[in-house]
Amino acid sequence: MGDTLIKVEDLCKIYNPGENEVRALDHVNLEIKTGEFVAIIGQSGSGKSTFMNMLGCLDVPTSGKYYLNGTDVSTMKDNELSVVRNREIGFIFQGFNLIANLNAIENVELPLIYRGIDRKTRHKLAIESLKMVGLEKRMQHKPSEMSGGQQQRVAIARAIAAKPPVILADEPTGNLDSASSREILGILKQMHQSGKTVILITHDNGIADQARRVVRIMDGKIESDTINQDFGKGEEVL
Ligand SMILES: Nc1ncnc2c1ncn2[C@@H]1O[C@H](COP(=O)(O)OP(=O)(O)O)[C@@H](O)[C@H]1O
Ligand SMILES: [Mg+2]
Repeated sequence: MGDTLIKVEDLCKIYNPGENEVRALDHVNLEIKTGEFVAIIGQSGSGKSTFMNMLGCLDVPTSGKYYLNGTDVSTMKDNELSVVRNREIGFIFQGFNLIANLNAIENVELPLIYRGIDRKTRHKLAIESLKMVGLEKRMQHKPSEMSGGQQQRVAIARAIAAKPPVILADEPTGNLDSASSREILGILKQMHQSGKTVILITHDNGIADQARRVVRIMDGKIESDTINQDFGKGEEVL
């Protein structure tokens, strides 16, 4: 584990400023080092997705600072943010967000087109990352021809194909049964072991306990930040 990758200082996000304002993030301070595996846990409405949107450069805070790899991204404009986002972050969502009429390999290739990667390299990267998630036999399958767990593995392959250093997963197992959830968590652990920084957002203690560090958020504030002593000591219980 290495340098500071993510640093947020007094981060606030206020929706609908004024009478009906919602303080979704309320003076959040957090530091994450390169290579960490962190779960961010909180109840529904606690501010997890808002935080993910900030960390993932999908949105900017109302106030406060966000340094990603030493660069202040909290005041960037949309076009600058999208450059940083494309380079640094792989997203995994609860709903997979795959394109129904594209097969696995095409789904993984798609965002690589926007990154300006040539066809041959795209194909190679897509195959590589589908193999990494154990889907070498499903590359020609469309989402409707795969189980939920397999679809989420395609989504993970898509997230890692361009080799971003940070993986941001928002409730990645929220739509999955427990066997598929275990698979997905196993893959996220593998990503962490291969050196990626993994940030896993969840409302589920059993899932959060799989991470090395657990940050608990409540009403837009960090309530606790603990190291999981059992991390890496064998079988997970889900
Ligand atoms: N675009 C928005 N406009 C107004 N309020 C929002 C918006 N997005 C989220 N909120 C509110 O901000 C709070 C945090 O929401 P969210 O970050 O989605 O929480 P979580 O992901 O933990 O369920 C909630 O009270 C929610 O209703
Ligand atoms: Mg959410």
